[in-house]
Amino acid sequence: MGPKDSLAVARERFLELMRDRYACKLYDPARPLDDAEVRFILECARLSPSSFGIEHWRLFAVRSPSAIALLADACLDQDAVRTASLAVVAATPTGTAFAPDSALVRQRGSRFPGGLDVFVADYRGYYEFLSRNGLVDHWARAQCYIACANMMTGARAAGIDSCAIEGFEDERVLAAVGLKSGPWQTGIVTVFGHAADAAPREKIRMPLDEIASYL
Ligand SMILES: Cc1cc2nc3c(=O)[nH]c(=O)nc-3n(C[C@H](O)[C@H](O)[C@H](O)COP(=O)(O)O)c2cc1C
Repeated sequence: MGPKDSLAVARERFLELMRDRYACKLYDPARPLDDAEVRFILECARLSPSSFGIEHWRLFAVRSPSAIALLADACLDQDAVRTASLAVVAATPTGTAFAPDSALVRQRGSRFPGGLDVFVADYRGYYEFLSRNGLVDHWARAQCYIACANMMTGARAAGIDSCAIEGFEDERVLAAVGLKSGPWQTGIVTVFGHAADAAPREKIRMPLDEIASYL
């Protein structure tokens, strides 16, 4: 088998993973995730890309039954949350936390080649564009969806089921993880575990030709 063949195999394997992952709405309490699985999922989030490499998220791995119950209440009482073995809350700071002279941007920006000044010279214009258009919080939240997708795909590769949870009350989710609304917002919640229900339903997706164009 040549390099092209093995790449074709790798592509097919990855697509198989994407086809297998589905939004699991009910988890088996008898099969909780272990510490290594939880760390693996968090590592998938940590390695995710983010705009300007800022890593906007603060991650909360919620596992204790009482904290999960509180979170489920904050997520419109969804069974997917109530039965989950792990819920990862990705929260982000809001607004001026992302200003070019903020502590957060200084910390994150100074890690890059060239140092903070080079980083800020590049970043300032984009931040001002977002700020002028009232988009800073939206931008920060959007980054969490990338971490969420990577955690879900990674989980599937490790035989773990998952579901993204957008049905939540922001303030109550924040309270459940000990954060204050205002300086913080919920990005997204993602739940994990082993499915309690058997076969996933058929994948429902539009044909590629209807959703993609080649220009
Ligand atoms: C950002 C996002 C938020 C979602 N929020 C919820 C949710 O709150 N509750 C729920 O039951 N499913 C939720 N889902 C699951 C979707 O309904 C599901 O992914 C979609 O129907 C496609 O099905 P599949 O993931 O099984 O392929 C969410 C999915 C995404 C990507």
